[in-house]
Amino acid sequence: MKRILLIVGGGIAAYKACELIRLLRGAGHQVRCVLTDGGAQFVTPMTLAALSEQPVHTSLWDLKDEAEMGHIQLSRQADLVVVAPATADLLARMAAGIADDLATTLLLATDKPVLAAPAMNVRMWLHPATVRNVDRLRGDGVTVIEPDQGPMACGEHGPGRLPEPAAILAAIEARLGVGCQRLAGKHVLVTAGPTHEPIDPVRYIANRSSGRQGFAIAQAVADMGARVTLVAGPVALPTPPGCTRIDVETAVEMANAVAQALPADAAIMVAAVADWRTESAAGQKLKKAAMAPALALVPNPDILAMLGQSPHRPRLLVGFAAETERVVEHATAKRAAKNADWIVANDVSGDAMGGNDNRVQLVTADGVEHWPQLPKMAVAQRLAERIADAL
Ligand code: CTP
Repeated sequence: MKRILLIVGGGIAAYKACELIRLLRGAGHQVRCVLTDGGAQFVTPMTLAALSEQPVHTSLWDLKDEAEMGHIQLSRQADLVVVAPATADLLARMAAGIADDLATTLLLATDKPVLAAPAMNVRMWLHPATVRNVDRLRGDGVTVIEPDQGPMACGEHGPGRLPEPAAILAAIEARLGVGCQRLAGKHVLVTAGPTHEPIDPVRYIANRSSGRQGFAIAQAVADMGARVTLVAGPVALPTPPGCTRIDVETAVEMANAVAQALPADAAIMVAAVADWRTESAAGQKLKKAAMAPALALVPNPDILAMLGQSPHRPRLLVGFAAETERVVEHATAKRAAKNADWIVANDVSGDAMGGNDNRVQLVTADGVEHWPQLPKMAVAQRLAERIADAL
């Protein structure tokens, strides 16, 4: 049992805090809530009190509270302070060290770890001021989890949605080092993102992989206690907490980084590795000529197949198959050809590449499982559970 001090900020996503309290209590934790003035516009103290079965704190100037439980004590009694939803304004005040209400005073007074789950409009999330504030908070040791992408209450679309309560619970338990640490002591190797194959110093061959599914898998297995090596192609995603990240650019660099990271108990090859590279990249920028240049291509190493044949083959070897047609048929053939245990077949005919959701089918020795369309983080958590079962 851990004691969570949950600060509920002002945003439409505050209703999800109610579900989070339910999940936290179901997992055996005690929750005490602080509701900001903004938060109280969306949920009532009564709702939070009923769900948490604890008094709810709202005002810095509530003398009764100060007499019975000073705010310093309130912040120090917890094992973890969670801010969900964390609005742009709340993040800004946290980053600046402002203490002008109960929530921010507690956050400044606490000596306990802090985890923030942001929720806001996409423009606010992408605004340089918010980017700066989040960087600063992370630098201060605050765990700021990534918001989800998708349609928003304001009618726009993009990153900024509060992650699902189950994902916040997983992040909380990972930060606390509790929960189902089913992969403790295991080394899991994950590749993610595209590769860039240079043509000349300024041009390259690439693909549409965003890296988000691979990063989500790295995070999900790290949340379950695994030691994770994340070999990442060129993507601008933040490193999931608890993962060792090795940045690479080309398939050859990725293959070398993977070989160096062995041995591993499981390898999940999510990267969209370019099958071909230019025979030799031009040393100088190619100049426009009358004729289009002919690019001589040579095959790249197949990293998954290489692991499949390696004397250090991980006990569980998982590949992804991005297909636009005959998904299961191709995935089944890849499983055999690359000596993988499982292939996660991924229909990329829609907007899976770069999108928030993924619809996958898991091809194993036992047959094919059809999973429903799920957010990439949920696909990752489900896969992580299966990996833990297998190991
Ligand atoms: N893969 C790899 N190294 C490569 C190519 C692919 O490790 N050079 C891995 C991917 O990470 C993925 C799986 O192999 O786990 C399937 O990749 P995909 O590109 O879909 O398959 P290919 O073997 O390249 O076949 P095709 O392009 O014909 O579909």
